[in-house]
Amino acid sequence: MAADLSRVASVDAMRERARRVLPRAVFDFADGGAETETTLRRNEAAFRALSLLPRPLRGAGTRNLSRTLFGHTLSMPLVVGPTGLAGLFWPDGECEAARAASAAGVGICLSHGSACTLEHFADAGAVPRWMQVFIYTDRGFTRELAMRAKAAGYHALVLTIDNQLTGNRERDLRNGFTIPPRPGFAGLADTVTKAGWLWRMRRELRSITFANYRREGEADDIGALAGRMGALLDPGMTWRDVEWLRTVWDGPLILKGVMHPDDVEPALGAGVDGIVVSNHGGRQLDGAAASVEALPAIAKRVGGRMPVLLDGGVRRGGDILKALALGADAVLIGRPQLWGIAVAGEAGLARVLDIYRGELDRAMGLCGLSSLGEIDASILHTKPKLFREGNST
Ligand SMILES: Cc1cc2nc3c(=O)[nH]c(=O)nc-3n(C[C@H](O)[C@H](O)[C@H](O)COP(=O)(O)O)c2cc1C
Repeated sequence: MAADLSRVASVDAMRERARRVLPRAVFDFADGGAETETTLRRNEAAFRALSLLPRPLRGAGTRNLSRTLFGHTLSMPLVVGPTGLAGLFWPDGECEAARAASAAGVGICLSHGSACTLEHFADAGAVPRWMQVFIYTDRGFTRELAMRAKAAGYHALVLTIDNQLTGNRERDLRNGFTIPPRPGFAGLADTVTKAGWLWRMRRELRSITFANYRREGEADDIGALAGRMGALLDPGMTWRDVEWLRTVWDGPLILKGVMHPDDVEPALGAGVDGIVVSNHGGRQLDGAAASVEALPAIAKRVGGRMPVLLDGGVRRGGDILKALALGADAVLIGRPQLWGIAVAGEAGLARVLDIYRGELDRAMGLCGLSSLGEIDASILHTKPKLFREGNST
């Protein structure tokens, strides 16, 4: 398998492999975005619209890609982001991902909606490991997850603020996506052609659920827990809730889903330690700007007062370089980790991380950059500008 994976040349190629091995509804669950998927496409296109101005002859014979974030030194400025139900892509998918992240020396963030419990994930030993939560209508449940994360040795809490209503993902509606998958006739015909996935997942498919939401004595099938989760979302949350969470969690608190520069001061005022510029990979508000378009104004407003991370559309090591040039300290990846896991579990994500590292290292070398500290906006030719879809970008 390892030799075979070495021929997967890019993250996009891993996506193609994932498409071939997954039932369509499962592939689309990860791949899709909200409504017209304009924001989803825009995230990637906005990176492509940025171009670089290489400056060789600066002695970049070796490159140091390491970055220290919240007290942990990562081997490159990348964190594997929170994606619900990684365990639907490969048995124990979350822990497979944890092991790949550990081996690669990068951080990983567990989703609230993981198929395993946060305690089980912690046992995989990834450092640093972050836990992602929401502000729930039942604040006691948010507190409970934070306390459980503390007890399980998580190094940061990530509060996602852009999932207060469930995004309108039309591919899931069209596919009749349910968990566990109960495909209609067309879906069934497609699923039976994905024999490898079906065989691997034969035990999980009977029991997969949102494990962190289980309650003693209550139904714990995925339908029941998905209902509970949906009912717990709170579109009425405010900055006061962030201030409250600050009093509950004493480690690094990171706000994920910041897109507006005017939210920087309230975030700092509420005592958060870092932000992720993110539109949830285009899965929530269709029509939102690309995250990399929103980044420069936010980074400027932050002015170095806290780490700024970014996710959405990072598909190349060169995209990481561009994000850092626009003021990010590091990036998160969402879908690419699921593609890697779907193809080969831990080894698949290891290959994905390897690709990012190789591409970032090469891009830095070709730009004449020896360390991340040397990256700034002067390496960009195309200054951020309005995005236009199609060839004109
Ligand atoms: C299948 C899937 C599940 C996700 N689940 C969560 C989640 O539970 N919590 C969260 O904060 N973000 C979640 N996200 C969003 C990612 O953390 C991230 O913001 C987004 O995927 C980044 O864009 P990218 O996929 O282009 O890298 C999910 C994304 C995907 C694709």
